[in-house]
Amino acid sequence: MSAAPQLDTQGLEYDGKIRVTYNDMHILIQKTAPRIKAEFNPDLMVAIGGGGFVPARMLRSFLKQGDGEKRRNIPIQAIGLSLYEEVGAFDGTPGLAQEEKLGKEVVRTQWLDLSTLGSKPLIGRRILIVDEVDDSRTTLSYAVAELQKDIDEHLAALTPEQRAATPPTELAIFVVHNKDQPKACSIPSHVRYFAGEDTKPKSWICYPWEQEDILLHDAIALKQKELGL
Ligand code: G4P
Ligand code: MG
Repeated sequence: MSAAPQLDTQGLEYDGKIRVTYNDMHILIQKTAPRIKAEFNPDLMVAIGGGGFVPARMLRSFLKQGDGEKRRNIPIQAIGLSLYEEVGAFDGTPGLAQEEKLGKEVVRTQWLDLSTLGSKPLIGRRILIVDEVDDSRTTLSYAVAELQKDIDEHLAALTPEQRAATPPTELAIFVVHNKDQPKACSIPSHVRYFAGEDTKPKSWICYPWEQEDILLHDAIALKQKELGL
């Protein structure tokens, strides 16, 4: 067996970043799960890739449905969104730069696979959107809007009798970290919102899955905790 690597965290300047370990994530999610279960009790999770994948999997362990041996896992669907500034059509006039339009266009780089979710895959469900961090709120706002479009399409395909007989479809959000700062986009008030914890405005959070040297990351995180940083 090879010797454990030597970790030298001496002399590392504190750079103001928040270093989060896998165990920090696990504990924070575990702490938040009872509230999510009591107040929303999701039956479907939609994880926004890539940062939402690991949190969604961790959360699922704490949200199993049913009792005893009948405990069932909540399905996790993966989505990906890419946001970029919309660029106006270029009319070909020499010397004119392409004109940038205000606003962002959202592209679904990956979307729900509804084939595994039964005949009314979204209707009547309690859907929890999961991401690791709420920074400007842009991604979350688009995720809610895009999911709502799909839900509305599915509802429109039902007869009035079927619509009347289906329970409401509900959306909620869980993020592990919410940066406590002004947001560029908003979320409709009927969408419930759960955050593991709020962090300072403009804080930068280093997640464990981004690290090349996870042992050094954990060692610095421990050191920062010891120093109360
Ligand atoms: P927002 O809507 O919540 O503001 O996210 P935005 O799309 O503006 O952020 C762009 C990318 O930056 C996202 O990653 C988001 O997760 C990431 N990000 C924002 N703040 C932090 C932070 O403090 N730490 C880290 N590590 N990432 C942050 P993405 O493009 O979706 O990539 P992925 O890592 O989720 O795959
Ligand atoms: Mg992300």
